[in-house]
Amino acid sequence: WPLLAVDVEAILRLKREKNATILAHNYQAPEIFHTVADIVGDSLALAREAAATDADIIVMAGVHFMAETSKLLNPDKRVFIPDSRAGCSLAESITAADVRELRRRHPGVPVITYVNTSAAVKAESDICCTSGNALKIVRSLGVDRVIMLPDEFLARNIAAQAPEIEVITWAGHCEVHELFTPDDIRAVRESYPGVTVMTHPECPPEVVAEADFSGSTAMMADFVAYKRPQRVALVTECSMGDNLAQQFRDVEFVKPCNLCPHMKRITLGNIRAALEEEQHEVHIDPLLADRARAAVERMLAVA
Ligand code: 13P
Ligand code: SF4
Repeated sequence: WPLLAVDVEAILRLKREKNATILAHNYQAPEIFHTVADIVGDSLALAREAAATDADIIVMAGVHFMAETSKLLNPDKRVFIPDSRAGCSLAESITAADVRELRRRHPGVPVITYVNTSAAVKAESDICCTSGNALKIVRSLGVDRVIMLPDEFLARNIAAQAPEIEVITWAGHCEVHELFTPDDIRAVRESYPGVTVMTHPECPPEVVAEADFSGSTAMMADFVAYKRPQRVALVTECSMGDNLAQQFRDVEFVKPCNLCPHMKRITLGNIRAALEEEQHEVHIDPLLADRARAAVERMLAVA
């Protein structure tokens, strides 16, 4: 990416000067993922790394809830998001008042909150989960009923794996993954015989049912790294396959995939501006942050 080399060089210099670290989600474009990122991974890995970093500044190349999670785990560090409009349809689907109302309707039932939520929603929760640890978290509670929000499809996909537990959910959806259909999978199998189909658990259950494997973005990457299937369809955000294709030249990556418009708001240009001008800092009300942090820390302790 010769035209972007100037930004890359500036970012690398700024990181050294300011003792900054860049965390990048697996859905970031290859020119970010393979050049300036210090840590790449799924939401769980980014949360863990945020908890472990000794940098003074964290720049989240991801979406807003990921930056908030980093801030929750590092209240004394400065956390920046290169574009504060990088949201998430799941995070926007539910408010703290909605969670309080769910608790009122289901007294005593623990609330498991997907990390794809605002700090205010996390603050109303007993424990958080990611797509990489959701099953483990649900089972860790040792109860036969849970509220799992806000992703209806993730909750239904987990419920299918834990039939002993009743899972009450919410009608939130990922605008990227809800678009896939079982026909998409049948079509890819017809066009590419022998293809290994992987889905993210934010896909509708009838889509997941057609796949060979379903897991978080890191679980899909690990599957490719260790099993080296010849042909893979990653039924998820498009940059996932683009990033892996650069790493695993012997694997053929085929469509379908969809773009996440929120993830795509992050560019080398605005990462550079975030570092240069120290802009779009994430702030969370300290009282609310204490309650939200407890839910994230409970997750990290279990998983
Ligand atoms: P992962 O935790 O699997 O990376 O998923 C995050 C996400 O936003 C998927 O849409
Ligand atoms: Fe949110 Fe879906 Fe984008 Fe992930 S892919 S950040 S869940 S809108």
